[in-house]
Amino acid sequence: MNVFIVGLFLILLAKSCHGQCRHWLTPELHYFDDNKETSAGTYGSGTFSIVGLPAHQSSTYPGLLAGNAVDGSSSSMIGSCSHTFIDDPAPWWRVDLGVDHCIGKVRVLNRGVCCSDRLTGAVVRAGNSTTVTDNPTCGSPVTADQAQPLGGTIDFDCRPQLRARYISVDIPHRATLQLCEVTAEEVPLDCCLGKSNGA
Ligand SMILES: *[C@@H]1O[C@H](CO)[C@@H](O)[C@H](O)[C@H]1NC(C)=O
Repeated sequence: MNVFIVGLFLILLAKSCHGQCRHWLTPELHYFDDNKETSAGTYGSGTFSIVGLPAHQSSTYPGLLAGNAVDGSSSSMIGSCSHTFIDDPAPWWRVDLGVDHCIGKVRVLNRGVCCSDRLTGAVVRAGNSTTVTDNPTCGSPVTADQAQPLGGTIDFDCRPQLRARYISVDIPHRATLQLCEVTAEEVPLDCCLGKSNGA
């Protein structure tokens, strides 16, 4: 009797998890559009907060710390942005999530008022190495068109999703890296790359 009930429960659990993972993995990456639905409590939101997590960058323009890119402020005014030295030989920025997350998407807020074009060529990555260029990329490098709008928002879709401890942005040549906010969306670890318990 008890065995039967436990068995039934496990079957239902496996089925519901399978359904969830399929939901998270629709080819068009619907899970982002579904945030409103998910934040209503069905699966838990796709967004997760990286505000205040430890951040580092290759060099720091006086006062414009790496942490400014995860300060929780959606301001694109320079005082709220991270900023490497001008013409850093190979600038990078990195945030440490502390534990693995299955990263589905990263969003970057570019600098307003001035100099947004400096982000052209920037690459987003997610992985386990603190040497950011060892990690696989999410989406494509920033194009000149994407970098043009002052205070613009640029999205990077990780296809496939990346199970990773670090998220980073780098520009693979001499440049100046400024990030006014970096945010991320995740898929539940159980559903990463379509994996799910019992399905
Ligand atoms: C990071 O490490 C986890 C295991 O802890 C592994 O599953 C994952 O694939 C690694 N991520 C990358 C991008 O190599």
